[in-house]
Amino acid sequence: MRNAGMALGGGVLALMALVRLGAQPAGPLVLAVAVDQPGAPIASTMYGIFFEDINFAADGGIYAEKIKNRSFEFPDPLMGWKRAAVDGARGSFAAATEVPPSPANARYLRITSEAGRYGVTNDGFRGMGIRKGERYTVSLLARRRGDGPTSLVAQFEDPRNQAQGETLLNGLTTNWARYRGTITATETSGSRTRFRVLADGPGTFDIDMVSVFPEDTWQGRENGLRRDLVQLLKDMKPGFLRFPGGCIVEGRFLDGRYQWKTTIGDPAERTLIVNRWNDEFANRATPDYYQSFGLGFYEYFLLSEDLGAEPLPIINCGMACQYNSGELAPLDAIDPYIRDALDLIEFANGPVTSSWGAKRAALGHPAPFNLKLLGVGNEQWGPQYIERFALFEKVLGQQHPEITLIASADPNFRSANFSWQSDRLRELNADFIDEHFYQPPDWFLKNVGRYDSYPRTGPRIFVGEYAAHVPATGPQNMRPSTLEAALAEAVFMTGFERNADVVRMSAFAPLLAHVDAWQWTPNLIWFDNLRSFGTPSYHAQQMFGANRGARVLPMTLNGNAVNGTGGVFSSAALSEGGREVIVKLVNPGGDAREVAISFGGRTAGGEATSTTLTGDSAGENSLAQPARVAPTTEKFAVTGTTVIRALPARSLTVLRLPLAPR
Ligand code: AHR
Repeated sequence: MRNAGMALGGGVLALMALVRLGAQPAGPLVLAVAVDQPGAPIASTMYGIFFEDINFAADGGIYAEKIKNRSFEFPDPLMGWKRAAVDGARGSFAAATEVPPSPANARYLRITSEAGRYGVTNDGFRGMGIRKGERYTVSLLARRRGDGPTSLVAQFEDPRNQAQGETLLNGLTTNWARYRGTITATETSGSRTRFRVLADGPGTFDIDMVSVFPEDTWQGRENGLRRDLVQLLKDMKPGFLRFPGGCIVEGRFLDGRYQWKTTIGDPAERTLIVNRWNDEFANRATPDYYQSFGLGFYEYFLLSEDLGAEPLPIINCGMACQYNSGELAPLDAIDPYIRDALDLIEFANGPVTSSWGAKRAALGHPAPFNLKLLGVGNEQWGPQYIERFALFEKVLGQQHPEITLIASADPNFRSANFSWQSDRLRELNADFIDEHFYQPPDWFLKNVGRYDSYPRTGPRIFVGEYAAHVPATGPQNMRPSTLEAALAEAVFMTGFERNADVVRMSAFAPLLAHVDAWQWTPNLIWFDNLRSFGTPSYHAQQMFGANRGARVLPMTLNGNAVNGTGGVFSSAALSEGGREVIVKLVNPGGDAREVAISFGGRTAGGEATSTTLTGDSAGENSLAQPARVAPTTEKFAVTGTTVIRALPARSLTVLRLPLAPR
């Protein structure tokens, strides 16, 4: 990069002289940062994560379980399972319910082997990813019938029915018990691998909760998460983790809503329900999409802790999804919903002597999770929502004034109801309003100043879901995750930062998508059963999250305070401790630009860092080319009152510029 790190003690005038000498044909933008006039604090929650089980994000995704329909509780109990017979073995199998291992897990599989190694194979989630030499923990509940087999063989199998590693599970009795073993994989395979359980002799046996996890989960936890995916989240340095969604919170009908109490404790006791994205989109129907809740609220709290992010659960407010049924819990029957919220706060924060605090402790976390944020409803609108939010706010405000409540804006932000609802929430003194924007890239550029005119008092804004939607292409109607989209989102984020007194939280949505099982595009991170990569939008989020800064700094471009002057969008912040100026610059146009940055009379001095994301407008990442669009970082020395940097065409640049001591 030309002129990288050049710094001129003579300031802007010297720069102008340089330009006149013809070293740089286009005039540089003069960016003046008022370092000595720091404005609002930038909230630690400014950049966070939106998590929803859509696109196989949880089951089949970050939740590292490899067995689909492990408890035979799908409405079609055999979905994902088929006959496995080695060398002409014979037998039969069927779902059964007589004396199950637990009432919450009412169905199991009964298998009879007549001859040879007979059993069942599980397809996994679009196959299974295994790595040669790595260890996998097999666990299942089993019993034999009468003089059925006392041993089972558990194997990975390849498409030619050859074993790719196995373990023996010995000592079956006629009572249900859990058996565990370890398979060391003998091959690496992303989607062609299956898993089978075979009788090691003739007779009848029952199996349930058949589970296979890699030993190498995040933090090595049992019932754990995929390490690569959690690492990508951790690298974002998120300020909060919102869970479990999204529309998942609402359900199509109230009986399909997310009920956190059914998602904690022994995974075998968690009641499975259909995933609402199973058949939401006819062109991307996913009939095998259910919620096992193996990743439940306790695991979400642990994940928040691991990420160093504030947990932000969203709870149902007595309203099903208004894009679907819009079913309402009557106002005089809303208490159980409010009770769920109260109990959740006790589960997260209560002493171990409290009823729900004791449950948290029993799960292995006696220390509180220090919950501070709670969302009431997702994408709800109309008087029905205001009535219900008011009831929640009254009770929670009285009993838990320490909890910040987040209210839903009308997702149709162009509607008259959007303003009506925001006004009502202001009257109710809501702490936060959660606004959502899924719009074309262009919209984000035009609306960069959206929050400039928001009231400076009253509810703060949570931009809870947003993404730039480039028009869909190809037979699958997939919206691409391009650099153009990432830059549009980055532009919008400079608007958050400049309005840090109003916007205190934000998150791109949705987060995760399986390349063979998605319903929605675009997403931040894609994965298959072994690999994962961040989109250009991921990198933009990561660059903002890792370089948030502590206080916003006023700035002008060519003397103009309007964001976007000269086609360049920007924000500036003082770092924690005040030793660096962090400048974010987005140049979405097709021409390279140059900026001359001054510090309101202060002097730069020391080693600076520049991180740049640039490339083709339509540039995307993929499993084959995971880093085609990825940031590059360089270090350079700065000194003097002006720092000059080149901004490539179509780029996001984050500069960390050290200030010399006074
Ligand atoms: O992010 C995908 C969906 O978009 C969310 O579930 C919902 O809140 C929004 O409509």
